Amino acid sequence: MTVDRRRFLSVLGGASLAWPAAVNALARDLQSGGAPDDETFWSVVRGQFLIPEGRMYFNNGTLGPSPRVVVDAVAEHTRRVAQTHPPGVAWDDLKTALSRLLGGDPEGFVFPRNTTEAMNFVANGVDLGPGDAVLSTDHEHIGGLEPWKLVTARRGARLDIVSLPSTATSSEELLQAVWQGVVSSTRVICVSHLTFTTGTVFPIPELADRCAENDIVLAVDGAHPPGMLDIDLAEVSGDMYASSPHKWLLAPQGTGLLYLTEPWREQLWPTLASGGWDDQTLGAHRFNHLGTFDESRLAGLLAAVEWTTAIRMPRIEARIRYLRSMLETGLRSIDGVQVVTTPEEGLKGGMVSFLVNGLESAALQRHLSRTANVRSRVIGEYDYRWMRLSTHVYNSPEQVTRVLELVADTARSGIPA
Ligand SMILES: Cc1ncc(COP(=O)(O)O)c(C=O)c1O
Repeated sequence: MTVDRRRFLSVLGGASLAWPAAVNALARDLQSGGAPDDETFWSVVRGQFLIPEGRMYFNNGTLGPSPRVVVDAVAEHTRRVAQTHPPGVAWDDLKTALSRLLGGDPEGFVFPRNTTEAMNFVANGVDLGPGDAVLSTDHEHIGGLEPWKLVTARRGARLDIVSLPSTATSSEELLQAVWQGVVSSTRVICVSHLTFTTGTVFPIPELADRCAENDIVLAVDGAHPPGMLDIDLAEVSGDMYASSPHKWLLAPQGTGLLYLTEPWREQLWPTLASGGWDDQTLGAHRFNHLGTFDESRLAGLLAAVEWTTAIRMPRIEARIRYLRSMLETGLRSIDGVQVVTTPEEGLKGGMVSFLVNGLESAALQRHLSRTANVRSRVIGEYDYRWMRLSTHVYNSPEQVTRVLELVADTARSGIPA
């Protein structure tokens, strides 16, 4: 597709959808205020969601519930397809809006279905051969790690796994833990920007510098930070950055993101070949030619990005941190609760992981769900067995207080039979 045709579709796609008016009105209403403890402001934001009254959703780390404007954008797009007026994808609008929110160059964005697919594109697209080594850690999600298992097994390469400290207290500690696993054959390092296990932020810029000096490709699993932290992809993308906007950016389920730095837009091999895959002039857009696909999710992604931009990312990050900090401080004060997430504010964001002594986290999870309709995540991977809670703008201090009461009760008296 030529650039002109993309522009044309962009105009068609953006002109008559109703949701932009709602986003503009929200931006006007929420121009001032928005301090982390401004409950009036945040109750307006909470009113944007479809979460049923009484549900306490603390599992944004798995999937973010979309606000109404996002659902409307998807529905509107779907309706227009059914009316035989498919609006197409507003590629330019989408890429520009993402670049404004997340940094990076608009031409670097690719739109797979999720982090898993994005990381498969990366692992399959980098030339690895027998004897090459890929380095990763024991805090990676299967979505970020399995693609490397497949590719190294198939190509006679090696996958080395280093152990990360669960409760790190400095960036240097994390950096050292990874770097001591580098050997002369290390071609690729794949790490999470923010671990799903404990919510620890990895020092990507520092690692990227070392990788560049040593001719190692840095693939970042960035499933979590977009929409949680006010990031700049120009600093944290490594060589390529895989993400899931259906988590913290609250985009529709099945909406992924891959950001490619400039050389990789030409050098990476596409995994799925469709028209234009070999047209280097298309850059990263080569990876978006996948035949007919569900474009409505991209309409929803654009709405989610505009919605986030309207509320403003620094305010969102501060509110997420405020609620997480309230939750974490409360958990730390309960006898019998062991918080595994780092105490260092700069090394974390919107998730906290913990254990209640003597209790299976899965049993605690069931108890919270049955008694108070709380949604949480147990980190059973690698046998860690931690309980993980995430906070986002639709949560409230009252919900945090209620969860803390329940955890304190179970730490004191166990789970009622
Ligand atoms: C760090 C990390 N990477 C990758 C994934 C996989 O994401 P998706 O299912 O959207 O591909 C997750 C999901 O929770 C994750 O936490």
